[in-house]
Amino acid sequence: MKATARAHTNIALVKYWGKKDLKLMLPQTDSLSLTLDRFYTTTKVEFDPTLKSDQIQIDGQIAKPKVAKRVSDFLTLVRERYQVSDFAHVTSINNVPMAAGLASSASAFAALAAAATWASGHHPTRQDLSRLARMGSGSATRSIFGGLVQWHAGVDDATSFAEPIEESVDFGLEMIAILIDTREKKVSSRGGMQHVVETSPYYPAWREVVKADMAKIKMAIAKHDVNEIGHIAQTNALRMHALNLAADPGFTYFNSQTLAAMATIDNLHECGVNCYYTMDAGPNVKVIYDQADRETIFNTLAAQFGADHLAVAKPGPGVEEL
Ligand code: DP6
Repeated sequence: MKATARAHTNIALVKYWGKKDLKLMLPQTDSLSLTLDRFYTTTKVEFDPTLKSDQIQIDGQIAKPKVAKRVSDFLTLVRERYQVSDFAHVTSINNVPMAAGLASSASAFAALAAAATWASGHHPTRQDLSRLARMGSGSATRSIFGGLVQWHAGVDDATSFAEPIEESVDFGLEMIAILIDTREKKVSSRGGMQHVVETSPYYPAWREVVKADMAKIKMAIAKHDVNEIGHIAQTNALRMHALNLAADPGFTYFNSQTLAAMATIDNLHECGVNCYYTMDAGPNVKVIYDQADRETIFNTLAAQFGADHLAVAKPGPGVEEL
């Protein structure tokens, strides 16, 4: 009754930003991401008949009540699905370059979904695992698979799952994460996206943007065109963040350093270096480029932010049993 799983985080190139069903965790739109090798979560789950409650340890510390409840609620789903009646020991370690730097619910819930399912003695398909991971965190749906991954929005639990578009990505696509601010964000992605769905007048346009971007990025991936992939991702990210500014009340995840990083990437681009940026629910910037340009981009960013604030990431694998 125990298993250990490792899942890597992912960065969306066409973003998920809003749910249409909060209970089933169905997203408003499809999305597409790149799983990264550099950042991952390793989680061990052991069901134990002697326990009176779930025992959850994250990065060597007993989990805070809010986090513990989210993990325990998720384990209850697994218990119901696979007829397990025991509580569990959960031990989870996040491998991120700095404390809480890019700690992500994506790798955390993908690893937890897999470890808990395998510990229950079941080995469903990875598509089924992705549906389960979705119930923990939307972006975790995609972290079950490696490389470039699409999450189909679907219309119910059975149809909302991830699918790999290209699992081993070997055409030079890479990212540098600029770690600008590693503190916990003020507006959670869950709260931020819901506020936008309810109050941003641009939301209908966003649905159309994503539909078009999904078609375009899949063509760019088929052609292994890193520049086109980066261009689509950057435009998509800016449009997602425009939803936040247009909400009521409006808000933004950017800070002055975020804007400074964006300006540097724009400058490099104007000088003929092909690089693009994307941002999620926080101020950190991820740069998208072809590995041939890594050195130029890294050195420019290191001069501005310090090499210790940069993390180079390559495409990473799907969830694995350890
Ligand atoms: C901006 O998956 O963190 O990273 O589903 O509520 O847990 P919940 O939210 P989460 O949102 C991720 C939002 C994003 C874009 C993306 O990953 O597609």
